[in-house]
Amino acid sequence: MNRLDGKSALITGSARGIGRGFAEAYLAEGATVAIADVDPDAAAKTASDLGDAAYAVTMDVTRQDSIDAAIETVVDRMGKLDIVINNAALFDAAETVDITRDSFDRLMAVNVAGTLFTMQAAARQMIAQGHGGKIINMASQAGRRGEPLVLVYCSTKAAVISMTQSAGLNLISHGINVNAIAPGVVDGEHWDHVDAMFAKLEGKAPGQKKAEVAAGVPAGRFAVPADLTGMAVFLASSDADYIVSQTYNVDGGQWMS
Ligand SMILES: NC(=O)c1ccc[n+]([C@@H]2O[C@H](COP(=O)([O-])OP(=O)(O)OC[C@H]3O[C@@H](n4cnc5c(N)ncnc54)[C@H](O)[C@@H]3O)[C@@H](O)[C@H]2O)c1
Repeated sequence: MNRLDGKSALITGSARGIGRGFAEAYLAEGATVAIADVDPDAAAKTASDLGDAAYAVTMDVTRQDSIDAAIETVVDRMGKLDIVINNAALFDAAETVDITRDSFDRLMAVNVAGTLFTMQAAARQMIAQGHGGKIINMASQAGRRGEPLVLVYCSTKAAVISMTQSAGLNLISHGINVNAIAPGVVDGEHWDHVDAMFAKLEGKAPGQKKAEVAAGVPAGRFAVPADLTGMAVFLASSDADYIVSQTYNVDGGQWMS
């Protein structure tokens, strides 16, 4: 315990789901956590649920002014920024012939540009501080290979894996470790939304897609956010100082690489 004692962390999209799970784990390890989310009410509620070392920051990762303001808020409040998790993301599904420009632009703006420019702003701050840092990007098994109805989301997560490699190689000279986590399927509101989309696209009953997917996971079930927190704490800790540009599968055996 206390592997993150005194560390100042910011987690995007942490008002709910996996990001909230990461926040809980970081708080338990002694960090302070900025619950940074585009939904201010949800962020405020989560921060108040999680106690005094958590605080809400309104942050839209698609806007540079919002990214810069969020980092500034953390530095004003905590005096520094040590750890960032780029966790905010959007999902969409469609037949290839039905993909819209709007869907492509929205997912690229949050999942790719949002990750890149939050990573950049965090790295600038960490370089100025002069004592390194940890950046963790949320990839996905969807970034390891395509899926017939998920072209755009899969390509954004492949981009996250690639950006993690390049940024990691570039930033390690400043003592900043950039790595990523690739989950498989994680239960929560995100997957409720995915299940509803597949129900429409594939004519399935509500819950059917989820049950089929769960049956195909070697570990025999969906993950819960707590299944991912060990890796997120490890990658943010000094135990990971020599780990650079990697994407770790935490997926119950779905993908091997
Ligand atoms: N749930 C899964 O099965 C699964 C699997 C693999 C990877 N992932 C990845 O894990 C991460 C978290 O997933 P989740 O299931 O918790 O998602 P979620 O949809 O439950 O939560 C996403 C959060 O991001 C916030 N957000 C959306 N747009 C934002 C923006 N522009 N700026 C800031 N915040 C924004 C939302 O308000 C929400 O709180 C994502 O990167 C996702 O792609 C999830």
